[in-house]
Amino acid sequence: MLLPKRLRSSYNQLMDTIVIKELTKIYQDGKKALDSISLSLPAGEIYGFLGPNGAGKTTTVKLACGMLLPSGGSCLITGADPAREPHRVHARCGVLTEHAQMYDQLTGLENLLFYAALFGVPQDEARRRAQRWLAELALSDAGEKKLASYSTGMRQKLSLARVLIHEPEVLFLDEPTSGLDPESTQKVHNVIQSLARESGVTIFLCTHQLKYAQEICTRFGLLDNGRLLADGTLKELRARISPGIRVSIQTGAGTSEFSLSAREEIPALVSRLVSEGAQIYGVSATLPSLEDIYFKLTEETAGEDRS
Ligand SMILES: Nc1ncnc2c1ncn2[C@@H]1O[C@H](COP(=O)(O)OP(=O)(O)OP(=O)(O)O)[C@@H](O)[C@H]1O
Ligand SMILES: [Mg+2]
Repeated sequence: MLLPKRLRSSYNQLMDTIVIKELTKIYQDGKKALDSISLSLPAGEIYGFLGPNGAGKTTTVKLACGMLLPSGGSCLITGADPAREPHRVHARCGVLTEHAQMYDQLTGLENLLFYAALFGVPQDEARRRAQRWLAELALSDAGEKKLASYSTGMRQKLSLARVLIHEPEVLFLDEPTSGLDPESTQKVHNVIQSLARESGVTIFLCTHQLKYAQEICTRFGLLDNGRLLADGTLKELRARISPGIRVSIQTGAGTSEFSLSAREEIPALVSRLVSEGAQIYGVSATLPSLEDIYFKLTEETAGEDRS
């Protein structure tokens, strides 16, 4: 049976793993940290949640996993409302925030086994999972060492292993790679991508690392001052800003930059330059990066707010 379009979109939203509707948070001191944001994500999406310091990213994560109560609007995470049934949300989600709670006097492995036991994972299975994640995050040798001796990066990787131990369907990761070296960052990204692709885990990733976000995320939300400025795939976000394409042409006289609205305009531009006598040595076209889009949209809004 084909549902009418209006109902079909509601139905799809019901099936999505993360559904946020008009979510608003006003803190006790009157600060409006989130202003009616809405978004909906299906299973297996890696959502890059971007925005400047103080935009409201962590607030969103805390509301979505029941650590805070909303002032308005709602969330449904795998069909459960974190404000009313946080235990159901916790059972299905892994949440990595800035301050992960673990035990300094236990080893890395013991920490993982402790959290696995809290979630009711059988011991043998817990040990198998713990060893798998320690290996994937290059922590195998550290598994037998007390957490007290871990470096910041090692702790951060162990925190990720900890939130994976109960095999969550949804992962909220707040800056999971902020203190990591490039090699560890790559490892964490590989883990994120394989969880989404192979196991259909939905990943909500707050990050300031736009270059990495562009590489691994399948969809993006751009938050500023508590408002969702844009939400979509890279292609959709590119379509929202102009110019569409930046072309750099190297001639005998140097390099010139041009802004065109589509790739199809490149041949005509090159022909015109040739007919004007230019000697062309190279042409490269670049689409706006996530970083270009980020600055364009946040600057536009800053301008609107001032006017
Ligand atoms: N407990 C609180 N009481 C009052 N205001 C708060 C509280 N927590 C956060 N805020 C304010 O809410 C806004 C959003 O903060 P939030 O931590 O969600 O931002 P963020 O996007 O995660 O920033 P960052 O990139 O720095 O981590 C900020 O203005 C912050 O000062
Ligand atoms: Mg934050």
